[in-house]
Amino acid sequence: MNIVKTLLKSVREFKKLSIITPLIIIAEVILEMFLPFITGRLIDEGVEVGNMQMIIRYGVILFVMALLSLAAGAGAAITGAKASTGFAKNLRRDMYHKVQDYSFANIDKFSTSSLVTRLTTDVTNVQNAYQIVLRMAVRSPIMLVFALIMSFSVNPRVAWVFLLAIPILGTCLPLLLTRAHPIFKRIFRRYDKLNLVVQENLRGIRVVKSFVREGHEKEKFDDISESIYQDFSKAEKIMAFTGPLMSFCIYLIIILVSWLSAKFIIGGTMTTGDLTTLISYAGNILMGLMFISVSIMMMVISRPSMERITEILTEEPTIKDPENPVTAVKDGSVSFKNVTLMYSRKAEKPVLDNISIDIASGETVGIIGGTGSSKSSLVQLIPRLYDVIEGSVQVGGVDVRDYHIETLRNEVAMVLQKNVLFSGTIKENLRWGNEHATDEELVRVCKLAQADGFIQSFPDGYDTYIEQGGANVSGGQKQRLCIARALLKKPKILILDDSTSAVDTRTDALIRKAMLEEIPNTTKIIIAQRTSSVQDADKIIVLDEGRVSAVGSHEELLKTSAIYQEVYYSQNREEAFGSAEE
Ligand SMILES: Nc1ncnc2c1ncn2[C@@H]1O[C@H](COP(=O)(O)OP(=O)(O)O)[C@@H](O)[C@H]1O
Ligand SMILES: [Mg+2]
Repeated sequence: MNIVKTLLKSVREFKKLSIITPLIIIAEVILEMFLPFITGRLIDEGVEVGNMQMIIRYGVILFVMALLSLAAGAGAAITGAKASTGFAKNLRRDMYHKVQDYSFANIDKFSTSSLVTRLTTDVTNVQNAYQIVLRMAVRSPIMLVFALIMSFSVNPRVAWVFLLAIPILGTCLPLLLTRAHPIFKRIFRRYDKLNLVVQENLRGIRVVKSFVREGHEKEKFDDISESIYQDFSKAEKIMAFTGPLMSFCIYLIIILVSWLSAKFIIGGTMTTGDLTTLISYAGNILMGLMFISVSIMMMVISRPSMERITEILTEEPTIKDPENPVTAVKDGSVSFKNVTLMYSRKAEKPVLDNISIDIASGETVGIIGGTGSSKSSLVQLIPRLYDVIEGSVQVGGVDVRDYHIETLRNEVAMVLQKNVLFSGTIKENLRWGNEHATDEELVRVCKLAQADGFIQSFPDGYDTYIEQGGANVSGGQKQRLCIARALLKKPKILILDDSTSAVDTRTDALIRKAMLEEIPNTTKIIIAQRTSSVQDADKIIVLDEGRVSAVGSHEELLKTSAIYQEVYYSQNREEAFGSAEE
C-alpha cells in the first residue's frame, strides 16, 4: 500500500484525467449493458411477432446507444492514455530529480545500469499497468455485477449457471498468477544486468576492440539475452493458460444455458429473445472476469517495477545539507583528524585507517602511493563526496559536514581520476566550472592548464565540438581541459587526482609552474604516479594500504621512506645508475 501511495504522488496534474477516465467508462459500460436487453426486446416484440414499427423503434434505440457507447469508449481511451503517459512523465522526472540529489554512496548502492533500467523499462511497465487499471478497474466489476443483475431479472432459473464460472476461475487464475510473479521479478534483475553489459561495452567499445574482446562481450550479451528470453517464455507459457481457461468457461456456460433454455422455451416459459439476451450477458460476464484477471496480471507484472521505482523515490541521500549550514569557506586549509573510511559497513578492512594530516592554506601537497592505496578515497572526502565513518575532515577550520554542500564544492575543485567531458563545444564544457565566465577568463585558465595551444590549433578553436565522452580529443588534451574547467571555479582548494597522467613530462612541469605563479594562494593537492610531478611540493604524503606511511619533502623522503625511494629510483633508473648502459 505504501508503494502505491508513493507512486501516486507523481500523478499530480493528471489527477483530473485519472478520475474522469473511470467515470466515462462507467457511462460506457452502462450503455453497453443495456444493449443485450434491448436486443432481446427487439427479437420478442419485433421480429417474433413481425411488428415492423417495433423493429425500427428498438433498432434506432440500439443504434444510438451503440454509438454513444462507442464514443464513450474512444473518449476513455484518450483520457486514459493521457493520464497514464502523463503519470509516467512525472514519475520519470521525480526519479531523475531524486537521483541528482544522490551522493556517490547512493549511486554505488544502485549501480548506474540499474538506475537506467528503473528510469526506462520499469516506468513503462508502471505506465501500462496504470492505464489498464484506470480502464479496467471499474469496468470489470460494474460489467460483472450489471450483467448478473440483468440476467437474473431476465430469467433467474437459467442465470444461476453463470455463478459456476466464479469458483472455476477463482481457483485457477490465482494459481497461475502466483507462479508467474517470481519469474517476472527475476526478469527485471536480468534487465539490469543486460543494461550493465550494454552500457559497459558501449562506453568501453574502444577498449573492447583493442583487447579483441568482442567475442567474449558478444557471448556475455547473448547469455543474458537468452536467459531473459527463457524466463519470458516460461512466464508467458503460464500466462497462456488463461486464454483457453476462459474459452472453456464460456463454452461450458453457453452449452448449459442453451440446454436449460431449450427446455424452458419448449415448455413455453421463456422466449427466444431472453435466450439471446442471456447468451450476450454470458459473454459480458466472462469478459468482466477476463478484464479482472488481466488487471491482476498487469499488477503482477508491474509489481516488481513498482517496488524498484519506489526504492529510488524513497532512498535517502546519504549526504545532505546540515540544518544551519556554514556558507563561506574561510581559507584553503585542510585537516584530517583520525579519519576512518569504509565504503560498506560490512567490509572487513577500512579503506582509510585512522588518517591524520594537516595541510595549510596555499600549500602544494603531493600524494604518492600504489594503485588501491586509497589516494582517491582520501581526497574525495575534501569536497564531501563520501562521509567518513570516524574522525573528521575540516576545510578552513570547519567540519565539511557543517558546510552548505554547494559552497564547499564550489571552493573545492576536483579533477576526478575518471573525469568526463560532455557532448558540446569546448566553451560549453569549460563553463561547467562557471556559467558566467567571460571568453577572456576561459583563455586565461586554458593557458594555465596548457590547453590554449592545442585548442587554438583546432579549426573551430574554442567552439570545437566535443563528442560524447570526449572521444575526439586525446587523453592528455582531455585532462588539460578538465583542469581548465576546474580552475575556472577559482577554488580555494584544487585537487588533481592523477590528472596529468596522459600529459608529457614537459607539459606537466609547465602546468605546475603556471599554477605556482598564477594561483599561489590556492591549496593544491596533487595525486601522481610520477615522483617528478610532486617533487617540488611543500610536502609529499606517501600512502600505503590506506595508511600514511610517510610525510615529508622530496629530499626528506628520499632518505627516510623506502616506498618513496623505490618509486623514485624505478622511475629515474638512468640517473641513478648513470649512463653505464650506453
Ligand atoms: N566506490 C567504491 N566502493 C567500494 N570500494 C571502493 C570504491 N572506491 C574505491 N574502493 C576501494 O577502495 C580502495 C582504495 O581505492 P582508491 O581510493 O581508488 O585507490 P587509489 O586511488 O589509490 O588507486 C580499493 O580497494 C578500492 O577497491
Ligand atoms: Mg585513484
